[in-house]
Amino acid sequence: MIFHTQRATRSLQPRFARLNASIANQNLAASKDSNDKLMTSIQAIISVEHVNLDYRKENEKLPVLTDVSMQAFKDEFIAVTGPSGCGKSSLIRIIAGLNKPTTGVVKFRDQPITKPRSEIAMIFQNFVLLPWRTALENVVFGLSSNHELTEDQKKEKALKALEETNLKGFENVFPGELSGGMKQRVGIARALALEPEVLLMDEPFSSLDDLTAEHLRQEIYSTLINPSSPIQSVIMISHNVEEIVELSDKVVVLSARPGHVVDTLRIDMPRPRNKKSEEFFAWVDRLYSLLA
Ligand SMILES: Nc1ncnc2c1ncn2[C@@H]1O[C@H](COP(=O)(O)OP(=O)(O)O)[C@@H](O)[C@H]1O
Ligand SMILES: [Mg+2]
Repeated sequence: MIFHTQRATRSLQPRFARLNASIANQNLAASKDSNDKLMTSIQAIISVEHVNLDYRKENEKLPVLTDVSMQAFKDEFIAVTGPSGCGKSSLIRIIAGLNKPTTGVVKFRDQPITKPRSEIAMIFQNFVLLPWRTALENVVFGLSSNHELTEDQKKEKALKALEETNLKGFENVFPGELSGGMKQRVGIARALALEPEVLLMDEPFSSLDDLTAEHLRQEIYSTLINPSSPIQSVIMISHNVEEIVELSDKVVVLSARPGHVVDTLRIDMPRPRNKKSEEFFAWVDRLYSLLA
């Protein structure tokens, strides 16, 4: 079973230390400027470049994003935050290839993203499951655009993903019979079954009660940092400051609509992070003050 906190904790440091180690090896760690240069010399997995987005409403232009640029590198867990309505969901949908920017470009390893691609999977806030399909059928359905897989292979991948999300035994249950936390696990399984390189999450825990959310956060994090996971980079939309500090390596803070990047923080706190430590509180405070 992949969801095992002890094992995850042990394997956690090496995977996330890699990026920092590569910076240190090149003796550039001291200077922020040099770090930025080094980061741009390592190829980004996702690169959002000068994205502008306007919606049209009754012939009026609604500017939603202005000149948003950000990058996701290997082994980075990134949070994007900002006030409600600032364009976070719009941005993540553009990264997923579900929406097009008005101007600007988003690239996956230097290739412009113009439509959804198999290397990028998304977990939605409100589960978005088909109520007339079982948990297993929902996960298999998520693989339907992959024409290289036989039906048996799809089923095999779906069963594995359901096992990874602790849903073994619930394969044949319909969404209506599942709790919120379990529905979201099906949503997570559907994304994991795609074996994506990039995982996008739009407020994945916000519709769950606190306890379920905390549990699922730990589980999903353990899965992601497992060295056998194909996922290289995560971009999570969140407005939950504690959740962001608990999970993220980097936080991109957007302004109110039209959203633009007001700050990018690197949370270099060691892991596992102690949510009761002074350091944790200091980061929470710092992020709150940026959002205030
Ligand atoms: N498809 C759409 N057509 C027109 N306006 C939209 C559409 N989707 C979102 N909006 C508007 O764009 C703004 C940003 O929305 P959204 O990206 O959902 O923000 P957030 O996720 O940060 O709350 C909001 O004012 C919203 O009403
Ligand atoms: Mg949103």
